[in-house]
Amino acid sequence: MIRIKDLHKSYEDLHVLRGVDLDIEMGQTFVILGRSGSGKSVLVKHLLGLNVPDSGSITLTGNEVTNLRGGDLFKLRKRFGYLFQGAALFDSLTVGENVGLGLKENTKLPEAEVAGIVAEKLHMVGMEGVEDKKPSELSGGMKKRVGLARAIAMEPEIVIYDEPTTGLDPVMSDAIGDLIIDLQKRLNITSVVVTHDMAICFKIADRVAMLFEGKIIFDGTPAELKSTSDPIVRQFIEGRSQGPIKVR
Ligand SMILES: Nc1ncnc2c1ncn2[C@@H]1O[C@H](COP(=O)(O)OP(=O)(O)O)[C@@H](O)[C@H]1O
Ligand SMILES: [Mg+2]
Repeated sequence: MIRIKDLHKSYEDLHVLRGVDLDIEMGQTFVILGRSGSGKSVLVKHLLGLNVPDSGSITLTGNEVTNLRGGDLFKLRKRFGYLFQGAALFDSLTVGENVGLGLKENTKLPEAEVAGIVAEKLHMVGMEGVEDKKPSELSGGMKKRVGLARAIAMEPEIVIYDEPTTGLDPVMSDAIGDLIIDLQKRLNITSVVVTHDMAICFKIADRVAMLFEGKIIFDGTPAELKSTSDPIVRQFIEGRSQGPIKVR
C-alpha cells in the first residue's frame, strides 16, 4: 500500500498541496482527477522522490520514502515506471535507445538482451519494429506508446501515468486505456493514473480520487463517483462551467 498522510507542498506563495491524505492499494488502478494546475503532477512526483514535501509522510509498503537520499532514493525509483506528461522522449535518441535507456544505465545486461527486452516491450504496446525511428517521426499517440514501453521496460512494481491521453483523439485515448488495463493484468502492476479525461477514468479505474484546492475531496469507486452528490465533484465529472468551481 502507498499511504500519503497530510502532505503539504508550497512553491513560494503558492500552497499547492494542503494536506493530502490518500491510500493506494497495491495491484489496483488508481485514478487521480483534478483540474489543470491543481497539483496532480506535483503530487505524483512526491511518490518517487522527485519532489520533497514541506511536511507530511508517504509510506510505501510501510517504509517512509520522503526522507530517502542517495542510494536508497535510487532503489526507490527503480520500483517505479513513469510515463511523463507529454511522453518526454529524448529526441536525439532512437525509439529503441529511449526504451532501453533505463536498462542500459541500471543493469549490466548485454546489448543483445537489452535489444530483446526493448523489442518485447514495444510489441506489448503495439509498436514493434520501430526501434530505429526517431521520436520526431512519430505521431502523438505513438510517442505515448513508446513512453509506455519505456515506463515498463524495467518491469516496475508501480507505474505512474501522468495524463496518458491528453492531446490524443478519442479512439487513440481508448486504445491507450486498453493498453493500461492490459499491462496491469499482464505485469501485475499497481497503476497510478493522473488525468482529467473522464472517459479513461471510468474505463480503467478500480478507485478514484479527486484533488481540489490542495486536498482530496473525493475518494471512492467509479460507481460511487458516478452517484456522488458533491456539487464540486459533479461539476467536474459533468464538465460544466457553471457551479461551485470558478473558472479562472
Ligand atoms: N517546480 C515548480 N516551481 C514552482 N511552481 C510549480 C512547480 N511545479 C509546479 N508548480 C505549480 O504548482 C501548481 C500545480 O502544478 P501541477 O502539479 O503541474 O498541476 P497539474 O494538476 O496540472 O499537474 C501550478 O500552479 C504550477 O505552476
Ligand atoms: Mg500535470
